[in-house]
Amino acid sequence: MSATEARSAPPPQHGAVGAQLARIDGPLKVKGAARFAAEVPFENLTYVALVYSTIARGRIAELDVEEASLAPGVVLVMTHRNAPRLSPPALFNSAPRAAGASDLPVMQDDQVHWNGEPVALVLAETQEQADHAASLVRVAYEPVPAAVDFELERSKAHPPKSILGEAAKIEVADAEAALKTAAVVVDEIYETPRHNHNAIELHAATVAWEADRLTVHDATQTLHGTRCTLAGIFGVDESQIRILSPFVGGGFGGKTLWNHQILAIAAARLAGRPVRIVLSREGVFRIVGGRTLTRQRVALGAREDGKLSALIHTGCAGMTAHNDCPEQFTFPARHLYAADAMLISQEVVDLNMAPNTFMRAPGESVGTFALESAIDELAHAMELDPIELRARIEPDKDPTTGRPYSSRHIVEAYRRGAERFGWDQRNKTPGSRRVGEWLVGMGVATATYPYYRMPGGAARIRVSGDGHATVQMGSHEMGMGTATAQTQVTADRLGLPLDKVTFEYGDSDLPSGTIAGGSSQSASIIAAVNAAAEALTVELIQLAGNESHLAGLAPADVEARDGGLCRKDARDRWDSYTAILSRAGRSEAIGEADAPEPSEVDAWSMHSYGAQFCEARVSTVTGEVRISRFLGSFDTGRILNPRTAASQFRGGIVMGIGLALDEETLFDGRTGRIMNRSLASYHVPVCLDAPKIEVMWTDIPDPHSPMGVRGIGEIGITGVGAAVANAVFNATGRRIRSLPITLDKLL
Ligand code: MOS
Repeated sequence: MSATEARSAPPPQHGAVGAQLARIDGPLKVKGAARFAAEVPFENLTYVALVYSTIARGRIAELDVEEASLAPGVVLVMTHRNAPRLSPPALFNSAPRAAGASDLPVMQDDQVHWNGEPVALVLAETQEQADHAASLVRVAYEPVPAAVDFELERSKAHPPKSILGEAAKIEVADAEAALKTAAVVVDEIYETPRHNHNAIELHAATVAWEADRLTVHDATQTLHGTRCTLAGIFGVDESQIRILSPFVGGGFGGKTLWNHQILAIAAARLAGRPVRIVLSREGVFRIVGGRTLTRQRVALGAREDGKLSALIHTGCAGMTAHNDCPEQFTFPARHLYAADAMLISQEVVDLNMAPNTFMRAPGESVGTFALESAIDELAHAMELDPIELRARIEPDKDPTTGRPYSSRHIVEAYRRGAERFGWDQRNKTPGSRRVGEWLVGMGVATATYPYYRMPGGAARIRVSGDGHATVQMGSHEMGMGTATAQTQVTADRLGLPLDKVTFEYGDSDLPSGTIAGGSSQSASIIAAVNAAAEALTVELIQLAGNESHLAGLAPADVEARDGGLCRKDARDRWDSYTAILSRAGRSEAIGEADAPEPSEVDAWSMHSYGAQFCEARVSTVTGEVRISRFLGSFDTGRILNPRTAASQFRGGIVMGIGLALDEETLFDGRTGRIMNRSLASYHVPVCLDAPKIEVMWTDIPDPHSPMGVRGIGEIGITGVGAAVANAVFNATGRRIRSLPITLDKLL
């Protein structure tokens, strides 16, 4: 433990945080009793099928819906001609809470912007009738040349306004000059392809208008963002809209506001009936954007002792002119290594495609592939162990912001991981270990992801006369364990056993939640719950009255224990919630408050870290890569629940193995159409692709985040691409710089 951490002791432990609690929503899901967005029953429900454009850019010249309108069961055919007039969605980052994936108007004119854009919607009494009628819609287009070929368009790359609010270009001294005079140089191009979102639960919503009140049962990771953005699109007040989303079958960044909810709501208004929309798997590929493609240069110049004289990470990513997701692949290099000179810059290339979006560690997942491959290349060139090289370029403060790190134990994560994995068994000479037809190798890479906490969160806590606490916040459970971990947090914060705490979430009528994105939700919720608990404490001290041990105390003077509050300086002076409420003649006490602004990130460089260890086997006969062992050793702040955390880490690593070996959206460079738009032809890892995965963590609380947590939803995928590529190099001597590492690249 460093001096910094010793000075700021972790908050008192009551036992729930850190326990291996099973998911509280698990039994509901196993029994099929958890109701997802597409399962909410409604009287008089209608069903949607969408017709998708087959050109990437141009206009709709003819649109014949007559046959479709007359088909059995059809209630309505909606096109740009009869759709209600809608304002364009407010784009993510354009305003607080704006959550539009794109600011393109939805079905408002005859213009087509990407291959797959919805051009007609059919509403029918059953899904089958809607699907059939949609096949009868006839569309003719007048295409115009579209920007669909990344290679061709790359010459027009331009800097984005910002990279999620950060500068697109950062320079420290003259890195190109330093590179020229470096003793050892690695200077390579790395490429990563498009990926599409494939959560198990398809994107879906069940929506209904009652007069001018709108209810949306959605699969979303941004309840209040969706409510705010829909209010703008439909010209109604936010108070008229309620979004419910208690269960989401996987989000990964893709479950936000897309065309389908907007179209379903518009159709419900036109038809005057409730509407259900469930995108087909093809529909998700057509209208929900994914991870975009990147072309990255990493150049490293080293001195004889391994220290970096130059670090360059530049390149470009595909984007559209209507969204703001530049795939921040240069983020890791901004904070990870010490170098005398740095050049970090990224640009975007405008393409006609579905607006790309966040997908588990957007930027960091593919950025670490390039950066951490290059570090491995440098280590090989210098005949240094790659872990030793990283230790030599460990910075003592953030290299681009100059801020001190809030908590960074990356060297420790490497040391522990190496010991557990048996890194000393690695043969330093590539291609030298063979078992039968298999070449076997080990690789390692750094995982890293920033700490974020989103502004605008609020929570309410009600404690009832029987001493039960209900915490309310419009937060999200997408399968990652939020409801479980936050029940543990609240139990400890209020000094209650787990069965005396209920965490209510998934409803926009609750106090404002923040987006479940950027691995920020845990810290964002804890900050709001802490604020609400403090407000509750004020209320309870007042209710406790002059007879109480608590009389006259400030919230800072008391702490919660055993179903009540006690003096911090005399813990036996205690008063229970039930006694306080009973004496006051009250049925409940309520504390509600906004979370404080996330100012901690202005003072500290706050990031999580990990060391990813991979053992890969490559067939000398087929070129096929199998991952035989994997270990992730993480430094991610305090772990709230080892069971749900391990699942998050493992899930991230499995997704990273998919990024390394399988996932690739095949895009027709002539038409801009996604060709492999199903799980039959878009490959993700299956059980046989996932080896034994071990995970471990330092569990060192971050002294500057709420309860010491830093969020763990995304870091698991980072570094995996490079760890696999580095293992493949160690196995075969072949350096693969373009993902995925398919067998054709190794033959
Ligand atoms: Mo995450 S890609 O911010 O859901």
